Amino acid sequence: MNESKYDIGMIGLGVMGRNLVLNMADHKFSVVGFDKDMKKVDALEKESGGKNVKGARSLQEFIDSLKKPKAVMMLVPAGEPVDAVIKEVLPHLESGDLIIDGGNSHFVDTNRHEKELSQKGIHFLGVGISGGEKGARFGPSMMPGGPKGAYATVQPIFEAVAAKVNGDPCVTYLGPGSAGHYVKAVHNGIEYALMELISETYNLFKKGSNFSNDELHQVYKNWNEGLLESFLMEITEKIFLQPADDAGGRLIDLIKDQAKQKGTGKWTSQDAMELQVPVPIIDMAVDMRDMSGYKEERTDAAKILKGPDAKLSEDKEKLIGKMESALYFAMITAYAQGMALLRKASDEYKYNLNPEAIARIWRGGCIIRARLLEDIRQAFTRKADLPNLMVDQKFAEELNKRQDDVRFIIQLAVKTGIPVPGFMAALSYFDSYRNEWLPANLIQAQRDFFGSHTYERIDKEGIFHTEWGK
Ligand code: 6PG
Repeated sequence: MNESKYDIGMIGLGVMGRNLVLNMADHKFSVVGFDKDMKKVDALEKESGGKNVKGARSLQEFIDSLKKPKAVMMLVPAGEPVDAVIKEVLPHLESGDLIIDGGNSHFVDTNRHEKELSQKGIHFLGVGISGGEKGARFGPSMMPGGPKGAYATVQPIFEAVAAKVNGDPCVTYLGPGSAGHYVKAVHNGIEYALMELISETYNLFKKGSNFSNDELHQVYKNWNEGLLESFLMEITEKIFLQPADDAGGRLIDLIKDQAKQKGTGKWTSQDAMELQVPVPIIDMAVDMRDMSGYKEERTDAAKILKGPDAKLSEDKEKLIGKMESALYFAMITAYAQGMALLRKASDEYKYNLNPEAIARIWRGGCIIRARLLEDIRQAFTRKADLPNLMVDQKFAEELNKRQDDVRFIIQLAVKTGIPVPGFMAALSYFDSYRNEWLPANLIQAQRDFFGSHTYERIDKEGIFHTEWGK
């Protein structure tokens, strides 16, 4: 076999890496894979049947199998493993070669890698990939960032393997440097927000109104056939049917109420704070995962702190209808927050992001894919520099029309003591953004009172300080 025939190489043959290799091979690209764990190399060769795919037994063999300029992609855990792979492959590469990090790396790391590698003449692409194992195998959404010329060399491969919506591949060049990994972090922030909102509806149905798992399945199934059609709705309806094979009943009722996280949602919140962009549903979603971790403390507190005793007395059909509308409202505001963050990050980090293109590549393949994203894409087609999705005419109409349903749901939650912080954050975001006047004048007065921090006035220009109370 011609040792230099492979189009691209993959380091890291866990499920994601292996599936992406198989996906590339399906599209007639030749791929060489390498992993330190030889069992994974064997698994790759076995699954591919050797078609367009080779498993390398050493790094040298891997490198020698690549066409020039060499394109080395890695799918390894973010952080130290990415640094380690770069360090190992670097001595084997020459100017003009390309390294691609397809993991969930922190954008700060991606900037560092790109800078260091470009000094050595090596191109570096940071590519967010969404869609989990199935996505990697049959069509993920891909968010590439880095030098545009370097992207051109892998563009045909990426466009072939990515998910398609109406024939459009769910991948496009996003911008320089860490643009791809930044967009992926915000994708995950939105993912956290949507998951939190859906789980709050579950809480209200289950704790507030005694819905059975079958009823819950039906609710999310119906929702998935309407306005709320999305990947997360699709998996949620299935979750309620999953039997607990060993113990009887449904699996969902046996799963601990403690959610883990790998960090991308937190990075989104952290950077939003840094850039001073409010993203309260995303923040709240991270907070609630953290709160879920305090199981022991919550168990103790449950014996001491008492809430209202009320159950929801609403008619189930009415509740489902209002909740659907409220969730649609909250989902719009969650995407709005993510897009607002991307707008600011684009300016601040010189990514030059195109929001229409981002909405377009999120319509398929990724975890936050939803019917709504086509409407979002259209909103940014109408006005690329829309300051906030909520003020697009179509979305404004939806939000204005549905706000009463969110208020209704939140009131029910408040009466019954069921926490809905995501919904509250969604409504407060809407109520704050649509208010021309906010009580920040009082905060300014207080700052000046205790710290002479000065303030500005509405009746005249300038910076003022007052000797308060004198
Ligand atoms: C995706 C997912 C994927 C992964 C998350 C899970 O887009 O395919 O976001 O990247 O499942 O990183 O994140 P947490 O472990 O933080 O929930």
